[in-house]
Amino acid sequence: MGVNQKKIRVAMIGYQFMGKAHSHAYRDLPFYFDVPLKPELKVVVGRNEEGVKEAQEKMGFESYETDWRKVIERDDIDVVDIVTPNHTHAEIAIAAAEAGKHVITEKPLALTVEDAKRMHAAVEKNGVKHLTCYNYRYVPAVQFAKKLIMEGKIGKIYHFRANYLQDFIVDPNFPLVWRLKKDVSGSGALGDIGAHSIDLARFLVGEITEVTSMMQTFIKERPIGEMTSGLSAKGSATEKGEVTVDDAVAFLARFESGTFGTFEATRFATGNRNKNKFEINGEKGAIRWDMENMNNIEVYFHDDPEGLQGFRLINCTEEIHPYTGAYWPAGHIIGYEHTFIHLIDEFFRGIAGDKQTSPNFDDGVKNQIILDAVEKSANEKRWIEIK
Ligand SMILES: NC(=O)c1ccc[n+]([C@@H]2O[C@H](COP(=O)([O-])OP(=O)(O)OC[C@H]3O[C@@H](n4cnc5c(N)ncnc54)[C@H](O)[C@@H]3O)[C@@H](O)[C@H]2O)c1
Repeated sequence: MGVNQKKIRVAMIGYQFMGKAHSHAYRDLPFYFDVPLKPELKVVVGRNEEGVKEAQEKMGFESYETDWRKVIERDDIDVVDIVTPNHTHAEIAIAAAEAGKHVITEKPLALTVEDAKRMHAAVEKNGVKHLTCYNYRYVPAVQFAKKLIMEGKIGKIYHFRANYLQDFIVDPNFPLVWRLKKDVSGSGALGDIGAHSIDLARFLVGEITEVTSMMQTFIKERPIGEMTSGLSAKGSATEKGEVTVDDAVAFLARFESGTFGTFEATRFATGNRNKNKFEINGEKGAIRWDMENMNNIEVYFHDDPEGLQGFRLINCTEEIHPYTGAYWPAGHIIGYEHTFIHLIDEFFRGIAGDKQTSPNFDDGVKNQIILDAVEKSANEKRWIEIK
């Protein structure tokens, strides 16, 4: 450990898709960045002893537990990191905050606005730091887009246009996993991926004041099943159950700034694996980004000379670009996993400097209010104000 470098001791609840992303981030963070707090992976929690033991060994935790309640009270834990399905976030996060631990919660923050607000109140009351994992803010190219916007390079923003397109459930035999059950996930494409676009919109453009939407469920019944790893799953050959969430959502949004917002999120966009993208059109220029080419942004400047105008491609891997100087020479690109390193780096710097960083539970609550309004709008077929 470096001189003056303190330890920060982590308990992680859950160990699959996001468990892998977060534990990798803790391990790589001090390798690339000069961090004030060095993570120590104390304990990982899962309900299945065989599975969690295997995860403990593979992910490099000191120990494992099968009941999260047992680790919350431990005095050798500083941070509780929640990477379990959405319906578990509120109970675990509130217990962790009450026990005086800093709390990381995957997105969306909760199942409902009420739960999200209770979580926010608990972390504030107990004076602990909090993070909601809207990791796409921490793509270097997205951070660079934000810098260009803040410097006024594209001027007043007229349009924010986001699509988050996946296709992993397009097969009607893809099983009824937790992501397709409202009581476990809260919503479907909306909260699973649309929530990321909402966070990017709030980060890059500002607050949304009003939404109107439509939502649709294409496949109403699926074989009972469960997630295995990443976005893969296994299901029953005989037993079926009802899909209770949206397969696709589209909505219009008005922003405080006067920006005109259009959003689409679907897990039925055949051919698109993780096409998380946005385009921003301003009075002086435009910016485009797409997660499947995450190191690049395309930028257009309206005052370029006549005949030379057009989108230019910027590979955001130069020393001057956010974060990338810590890795490789220019043009030697980074990936999805690095977004979590940056997110956790920011959070730990906040803890070390006793300041609250973003996206935090306040961002989580604001996002949840928008998710709720989008759903209400689809049900009631009208514009809903964000309050
Ligand atoms: N930031 C992102 O880009 C991103 C991507 C995927 C998922 N997520 C979010 O991360 C969270 C987890 O999703 P995932 O894809 O990793 O899910 P997953 O199904 O791959 O893993 C869930 C894990 O939680 C465990 N678990 C479930 N209930 C539990 C309980 N009561 N106690 C202890 N462990 C329990 C499971 O055993 C498993 O280890 C969700 O909130 C999801 O929305 C975020």
